[in-house]
Amino acid sequence: MKEGIVKWKSPSNIALVKYWGKHGRQLPSNPSISFTLSNAHTITEIQYQRSDQELVRPSVQFTFEGETKPAFETKIVAYLESIKEDLPLIKQHKFKIASSNSFPHSSGIASSASSMSALALCLLSIEQELHDRENIDFNKASMLARLGSGSASRSVFGPLAIWGDTTISNASSNEYAIPFGESFDPVFNDFHDDILIVSKKEKSVSSTAGHALMENNPYALNRFEQAHKHLEELNQAMTTGDIETFGLIVEKEALTLHALMMASTPPYMLMEPNTISIINEIKEFRTSKYIPVYFTLDAGPNIHMLYPHKYLTEIAKLKQHLSQYCQDGTILDDHVGQGPQKLS
Ligand code: PMV
Repeated sequence: MKEGIVKWKSPSNIALVKYWGKHGRQLPSNPSISFTLSNAHTITEIQYQRSDQELVRPSVQFTFEGETKPAFETKIVAYLESIKEDLPLIKQHKFKIASSNSFPHSSGIASSASSMSALALCLLSIEQELHDRENIDFNKASMLARLGSGSASRSVFGPLAIWGDTTISNASSNEYAIPFGESFDPVFNDFHDDILIVSKKEKSVSSTAGHALMENNPYALNRFEQAHKHLEELNQAMTTGDIETFGLIVEKEALTLHALMMASTPPYMLMEPNTISIINEIKEFRTSKYIPVYFTLDAGPNIHMLYPHKYLTEIAKLKQHLSQYCQDGTILDDHVGQGPQKLS
């Protein structure tokens, strides 16, 4: 085949046990687990065309939501260059890539997980078409997504995925994520994750810089051990449907992530005053109303509010109250999803 078009929709994810610290070729220092989301997603389309001669540099024309974005295009070229030995078709094809996100670009939501997984899935679909294979190689898609952004490896699978060697699964790997949680209590199948946007500003310290600072963090080794233990405990809690233990571990993970940032050299803080106000309000609501609602955080000030579907009505009132702490009152509703989808 000389040319063709492939298109994927791929979601973001929220880590319950966090990946923080890496080595080698983007390998994680500890295993992580995440809920794959649904509403927050990227749609990417690639038109590919065979080149008459082997390309010295990857050939890419990139548009984001209909507009050219030279800075993004440069990053994609560098990414494709870094994986061209893993996927030789990059040396023989020219690409026109068009991408869009379901969430506003400057909403404070990291788009690397959804965008890198959508891109990797498109590339693997091209490989599938060129080799006339029946299915795409999802492990390889996850591996290539990982090389773009570590957390993107987990977005290739839903509703939950683990990435990194762990005792809870013999199939787990540092190279790629795997789907997980078949034996989990059904309460987690339709868990909600509403994202409270405390700030839409770009983070002052990127995740890449944050991972690098773990190298000299005096607590790093204890942290990596703790993540293994948390994963085992979380696996147990989610299997038995113990939401209270689930919530305890997930909140401890979020605060540990930010404590590691505060204990880095140089130290830094990504939480904002309103992040802490929301955390306190969620705890107060949980204890006074006996409703299992918990928070987690990414590497930023925004709060992910996690709760079972059956409390939707009660939580709607809490959200109305919490919107005062959010920039422009922005709250993005999301929930656990089934993973990426190939679009025709
Ligand atoms: O995928 P990266 O390199 O942007 O790192 C993401 C790290 C966290 O979001 C903080 C945690 C995680 O496991 O997703």
